[in-house]
Amino acid sequence: MTEAPSPARMTPDPIAGLEGVVAANTALSHVDGQNGILVLRGHLIEDIAGKVPFESAVGRLWQDVDLAGTASLQAAFGKARLAAFGVVPVLEAAPADLTVYERMQLGLAALPVSGGLPPAVAVSGALPVFLAACHRIAGGLAPLAPDSTLETATDLLRMLNGQMPTGAHAEALNRYLVTILDHGLNASTFTARVIGSTQADLKQAVLGAMGALSGPLHGGAPGPVLDMIDAIGTPDNAEAWITGALERKERLMGFGHRIYRTRDPRADVLKAGLRKLGADNPKVQLAESIEEAALAALRKAKPDRPLDTNVEFYTAVLLDAIGIDRTLFTPLFATGRTPGWCAHVLEQQATGKLIRPSSHYVGPAPA
Ligand code: ACO
Repeated sequence: MTEAPSPARMTPDPIAGLEGVVAANTALSHVDGQNGILVLRGHLIEDIAGKVPFESAVGRLWQDVDLAGTASLQAAFGKARLAAFGVVPVLEAAPADLTVYERMQLGLAALPVSGGLPPAVAVSGALPVFLAACHRIAGGLAPLAPDSTLETATDLLRMLNGQMPTGAHAEALNRYLVTILDHGLNASTFTARVIGSTQADLKQAVLGAMGALSGPLHGGAPGPVLDMIDAIGTPDNAEAWITGALERKERLMGFGHRIYRTRDPRADVLKAGLRKLGADNPKVQLAESIEEAALAALRKAKPDRPLDTNVEFYTAVLLDAIGIDRTLFTPLFATGRTPGWCAHVLEQQATGKLIRPSSHYVGPAPA
């Protein structure tokens, strides 16, 4: 009698990090990592970011979402913001030591999504309200009610700061939100699709995606990018600081990407937004020197692995330039990415197929 193969031998080795594995068809976005191209439903990212408001970019992604008779996406998001403001007492009653991000997740868990608005609208419209309210609560300030007539970016800045933003700041935030709206099957989007594939609520999928986004290898990087820029302090210090970090085997935040083997096109879209704000910001000049030094040091330290600037580097500099606190960078990333997550969940759910891969057992055989 031949011996049964051990379970560990019956399956092929897993692909580390699922690198290169194609796990979905999507009509939403395409990331061409070799050529540094990002396509959002048929449009190059540089052709829409900075050119159209967030609502219009979301509308392109959501061609199949029923807006339940609302005249426009801007009006629908306005309604959703008003509805979400009803959850503010829950946010205010939460334990004081919650981070803004955790408090936003709490708000999302408490958000009613059966009040007439499509869930994608209710959830995506709620996060700007939660972000602004949670930041104000953390600072001991009263949350401000939304103005449903405004565009999302303008109202978000108004609810955060208590005054109407300048046109330039609203435009910069719009540019950022469009830039990060969707990006293929990244870790958080994959998470959202896995949860959605169980036919769970959209809200649950967004909560899970927020969890995946929060890590420093994904959406948690831009705060640390700004910390790095501050720690370096002056252009003269860049080379020594970066060399020291690489010698200590630390990763430079804002550099490297799973898919891009060249520059992340979103970095340049955001850099162009900084230029529009004016070139007199010393932090922008410092950031450019640091970027140059980091790219040179990475080429030297990792000659076989092309490591270039990713979206998070100029996210940090752009958001800082419009006065957004660094603790809000990841919450803002989640806010802008939520309509993308929703679109992916709906696309996945339409296939009706549960995502359920297999694992390779390497534990002990039963006695
Ligand atoms: N700084 C220094 N070394 C790096 C960096 C970096 N930023 N990125 C990758 N490397 C090195 C790794 O140490 C590794 O070297 P080794 O083979 O000698 O161990 C090699 O490059 C490959 O790294 P992996 O982690 O295998 O590559 P992966 O494609 O999985 O990593 C990631 C992509 C996680 C983004 C990585 O580049 C990184 O950690 N970057 C810094 C954090 C960051 O900027 N995160 C935001 C990403 S953008 C986004 O998610 C929106």
